[in-house]
Amino acid sequence: VARTATNASRKQLGGHRIEVDADGFSEIDDQASIPTPALVINGDRVRRNLASMSAYTKAHGLKLRPHTKTHKSLELARHQVNSGSFGLTVAKVSEATIMAEATDDLLLGYPVVDLLRARRIVEIARLNTMRVAIDSVCGVETLSQAAESASVTVGVLVDIDIGHHRTGVQSPEASLALALEVNRSRGLRLDGMFCFPGHIIAPPSLQAQELSLVSGQLQEAVDLWKRHGLEAAIVSGGSTPTAYQSHLIPQLTEIRPGTYVFNDMNTVRGHFCTLDDCSARIIATVVSDAVPGQVAIDAGSKTLTESCCIAAPESGYGYVIEYPAARIATLNEEHGLIDIRACNRPPTIGERITIIPNHICPCVNLQEYAWWIEPDENPRLINVDARGKLL
Ligand SMILES: Cc1ncc(COP(=O)(O)O)c(C=O)c1O
Repeated sequence: VARTATNASRKQLGGHRIEVDADGFSEIDDQASIPTPALVINGDRVRRNLASMSAYTKAHGLKLRPHTKTHKSLELARHQVNSGSFGLTVAKVSEATIMAEATDDLLLGYPVVDLLRARRIVEIARLNTMRVAIDSVCGVETLSQAAESASVTVGVLVDIDIGHHRTGVQSPEASLALALEVNRSRGLRLDGMFCFPGHIIAPPSLQAQELSLVSGQLQEAVDLWKRHGLEAAIVSGGSTPTAYQSHLIPQLTEIRPGTYVFNDMNTVRGHFCTLDDCSARIIATVVSDAVPGQVAIDAGSKTLTESCCIAAPESGYGYVIEYPAARIATLNEEHGLIDIRACNRPPTIGERITIIPNHICPCVNLQEYAWWIEPDENPRLINVDARGKLL
């Protein structure tokens, strides 16, 4: 068997040298030898998820700007760019610094209100098209100050709350007021609008009414802007649950799904995909069967996170592929306790099981690297380059 292609690989990223050698377990020549707990990514499934989203957006004249918070990996980002994404979205400035290696067109979909981060955005904007979603005068003033003093231009999208109630100005009139503020601010360029339909989690076939409401809200803002001589060249929206219904919001020019690349039990139980579309999974090993009615695995909350499944909060902390009747009932930091009483044949000590987490994004953020799986090839290590990048 050929030795694994990737042993210790080194990379210069954002001034930090990152070494990936899977804690010394780099000589892995089959999936069964990967040390657990491990994040394992199936290349076929990733390509299928990317191709499907690209085909949809292309068919509907939408641009695709995936959110990289799900994978935090340059390798995945490059796959997205190479399969039809025209740019990338990030949540954090430190992620932007890393993802700028994969694209020169970035959107920071998160408020910036401090000068330190504004200056870092401006540095990225020297070499890249850089846009930021903003919902406050404070954000506009801070970014303008940083951009003007560096003689750089940063694009701004006005963040409008369309029902998720997290960020975003609260009315079309408020969006106009902020757009006018951007328009008269030095160093800033008004590029359009931004919204996040994170509250729409009904199955796709039941979303039409909510999406139509969003469409109405956006149209009101677009019309108001137009009456005041402002154009929203970009209207950025999208999430994984609504991604394939985005054409029902005709105002959108681009969408930003993130989770779709991997999927998880939230997207499976929400009816947005099937189990087979889940391309990132956790492999764990049964490390104890001493307590009757349960086994303990080596994946606890530091691997699976304590996220519950939105559509099925009682279903436990993930889905065990090999044992559908098992329930990951309790998590300690490094132990997962699985209730096996409903299993015909319980998992045995030393056995490896495959888990689809409830929410894959925070799980990925806990890993330094993942194992990339291709048929007939040795597992290959990839970096989770932006893990822990929260600034
Ligand atoms: C602003 C923004 N855009 C896009 C996304 C991607 O949505 P999803 O995780 O449903 O793919 C998120 C997710 O949190 C987000 O916060």
